[in-house]
Amino acid sequence: MKGRNIVINNKLQIPKYSHICFKFNFVKQSSMKKMCSLFLALFILLIQTIAQKPTVVTLDGNHLTTTISKHIYGHFSEHLGRCIYDGFWVSDTLKVSKKDRIRLDVVEALKKIQIPNLRWPGGCFADEYHWRDGIGPRQQRPYMVNTNWGGVTEDNSFGTHEFLELCTLLKTEPYITGNVGSGTVEEMAKWVEYLNSDAKSTMTELRKQNGQNEPWRVKFWGVGNESWGCGGEMTPEFYADQFNRYSTYARNYHNAPLLKIAGGANAGDYNWTEVLMKKAAGQMWGLSLHYYTIPTGNWGKKGSATSFTEAEYFNTMKSTLRMDELVTKHSTVMDRYDPQRRVGLVVDEWGIWTDVEPGTNPGFLYQQNSLRDALIAGTNLNIFNNHAERVRMANLAQTLNVLQSIVLTRGTQMILTPTYHVFDMYKVHQDAKKININFESPKYTLDGNSISAINMSASIDSNGVTHLTIVNIDAHNNIPLRFNMSSIHWKGVQGTIITSGALTDFNDFDSAAKVFIKNFDGAQKEGNDLMVTIPAKSIVALELK
Ligand code: AHR
Repeated sequence: MKGRNIVINNKLQIPKYSHICFKFNFVKQSSMKKMCSLFLALFILLIQTIAQKPTVVTLDGNHLTTTISKHIYGHFSEHLGRCIYDGFWVSDTLKVSKKDRIRLDVVEALKKIQIPNLRWPGGCFADEYHWRDGIGPRQQRPYMVNTNWGGVTEDNSFGTHEFLELCTLLKTEPYITGNVGSGTVEEMAKWVEYLNSDAKSTMTELRKQNGQNEPWRVKFWGVGNESWGCGGEMTPEFYADQFNRYSTYARNYHNAPLLKIAGGANAGDYNWTEVLMKKAAGQMWGLSLHYYTIPTGNWGKKGSATSFTEAEYFNTMKSTLRMDELVTKHSTVMDRYDPQRRVGLVVDEWGIWTDVEPGTNPGFLYQQNSLRDALIAGTNLNIFNNHAERVRMANLAQTLNVLQSIVLTRGTQMILTPTYHVFDMYKVHQDAKKININFESPKYTLDGNSISAINMSASIDSNGVTHLTIVNIDAHNNIPLRFNMSSIHWKGVQGTIITSGALTDFNDFDSAAKVFIKNFDGAQKEGNDLMVTIPAKSIVALELK
């Protein structure tokens, strides 16, 4: 770590100023010393007052009109690297507890954080996936090459039934993305019929033959993925027409209306959103947005997951904070066509994307997960909560062993990453009422550049409990906050924190967990105000009741 600019640390500054006094040795030493001490004490007090003047934050508990959809806390599982195979779906011989070949320690960990939905089968893989290859007796399923991810052989042993069994075990909603890039309208239409119809037809008979009598009634339906890129290199005009065409035949069956999600923009491509909203908003429940945090900003050399400088950390957080601008600007475009906000913005791929861990398959996108990842997750989730009027769903990429994972596995071992703990901490916001917040963040400055140090979100749950999640991005400075709580009823506060000695700290298979949730007792009630100092590089959750 290098290059800190501003340090306000009174303890460190004492010797710096005290030596000046003792240069005046022509005056009587003892009285001079007393004067100096007095001067020093006053000076320190002054510095303390200036340095620690808390930032004032106002919570508006009077206008609770927006619900933070639990689907903002969604996840993503692609046939990529070790997410499905050797992740969720393991070999018969692996000595872990399993249902069929689904790994149950992973299921239990995910249930604990109440994952509300799981996106599958891709990503880029979705536009090469032919669902009929993944049903029926496993030994008879065709093999294919996973051309997007490492060129490995896909044996299709994990298909529709296995995925929906996984969702049932997780008690989560499936979010399935159909193939537009290389699949036909008929193929997608038949998949929906196979999944959702309770009428007698060849498709529903086939489903029953394969062991599923009742329709699954899948709700969330993606119509292609990244159609501007791996999903077919389409123009927005062409894709909008395709979306309308495929959507028309992806039918709503009895008691199974589909919520269709159109493939959305890559980061700041506002024209994509504009064209899609203009031509195709009618059939959409949601329009997606993909944005990844790349530490160096260079896709060729993205940077390491666990070894980085403070300058790289600063840039990473700056690029994470861009999510706020992206969501704001895409929402503004959507507002022009949909002022009632009927169509949701679905950020169904987000997270940090680094270089793969040394020695691992570059096509598998396996990366470790440090305290920095936790700060990224906390920041993004705060942004989504604060934009809950428009952001209805989001999916971190990806759940297991790929990109910003919440769980990593190695053989029979499993670890929970710092990002996992953020989802655990933030689950209290799921389906709670959003509280609007007003404050001006202090700055985190490095090498003459500044970004907001503090971000936060707040909600009130159905029991009337207020929850605050606060991220301090600043790598060095603790930041005091005074919350004006005049519109909130509360008597006491309890807190938890995620932090660690270094931003690069992570949880590994061979060492004890370093980054996890601990109790935090740094918040107090002063009158009706809440006073709290947020430690540097930390995420704090406060519960007020
Ligand atoms: O999450 C990895 C890949 O990133 C997805 O397959 C694709 O949609 C995106 O480009």
